[in-house]
Amino acid sequence: MSLAQRLPDTALLGLPHLSAGSGILLVHDGATPRADILGALLARYTVLARRLKDVVEVKGHEHPLAVVDVRIRREADSVQLREAMGRLANRAVRRLFITEQSNRGATAEAEAFGAEAVVSRPFSAETLYPSVDRLIRAAIEERSAGGAAQREGLNAGIDAIERILQFAATGHQLTQEELYGQGDKVVGTLAETGLADWIAAVKRHHSQTFRHSLLVTGVAVGFGQMLGFGHADQRRLALGGLLHDIGKARIPLDILEKPGALDENELAIMRSHAAHGRDIMREKGGFSPEMIDVVAQHHELLDGSGYPDGLCGDRISDLVRTITVADIFSALIEERAYKTRLSSAHAYDIMVGMKGKLDPTLLGAFAHIALRTSLAA
Ligand SMILES: [Fe+2]
Ligand SMILES: [Fe+2]
Repeated sequence: MSLAQRLPDTALLGLPHLSAGSGILLVHDGATPRADILGALLARYTVLARRLKDVVEVKGHEHPLAVVDVRIRREADSVQLREAMGRLANRAVRRLFITEQSNRGATAEAEAFGAEAVVSRPFSAETLYPSVDRLIRAAIEERSAGGAAQREGLNAGIDAIERILQFAATGHQLTQEELYGQGDKVVGTLAETGLADWIAAVKRHHSQTFRHSLLVTGVAVGFGQMLGFGHADQRRLALGGLLHDIGKARIPLDILEKPGALDENELAIMRSHAAHGRDIMREKGGFSPEMIDVVAQHHELLDGSGYPDGLCGDRISDLVRTITVADIFSALIEERAYKTRLSSAHAYDIMVGMKGKLDPTLLGAFAHIALRTSLAA
């Protein structure tokens, strides 16, 4: 009997709610799983090993966690991985990735495939087990907690951003139509549970990049709902929020995630994300001009002081103006490594102080979003 077939009859230590028969799904790319990870998992958990190409539909109650030990060397590997991850029940199966290196690039790549934790080789039981336990507990708690509607919308948003990042970084194809499906779920969830709950849920996501885009999306759609926009306009806002920072896929991670203020040179590189985003969308095609404008122009300001093109008011569409308001508000209320979060009232005061730069009518209406409830990201 091979190691992979040896499924010990052990209870999941400290995890009494996990029913017998369920366990960790170990996804590997070789003919057999690598001995280090299989051995470490088997010492403590029930494990079912599957080759990447043999992954079939997996439900959360069968396997709350997938440990993914797959090396991505070629485009074909990432396509196969994407397909396999698509067969894991949407977010009900948590994902922990094992990487060969501990750099940010490897982590970011894993996150684009839905990793919620990344453990790099060589690892010890002390580094592996806490991450495994945390994700299994999260899966079980989430299953027993309510809020199914909210999870569906949030997961749809997370999926959409994963696909957008892969689209930007690889040959993976994506159409606006596909994203609308996920945007609609976000719209439905916000209509049902409201913006405050959305922000509270988004806050728990581990990746700053995802948190920001989910927050901008929620604020933009919540704003549209408050203004009484129809469904077609709400989904345009959802798509704009999800896509707006796609160009950051081309910004080096040491700048994107620098735990301090950027110097002048770094700031210029960071600001190039708007033009990069436009390039990505034009090169790849499949997106409407108004979505390309959102990506290219969301840092333009009505008085011409924005970037990349210094456009003035009449050149900037209502959709872009709305995303800009949501983007600035979100950035202000977010906590980042180098700054504390501002209260929504404080953030709104700062935006009101940006005289001539933001649409005054939109900003007036936005007071109801910013000041109505305490929205802390
Ligand atoms: Fe941006
Ligand atoms: Fe942004």
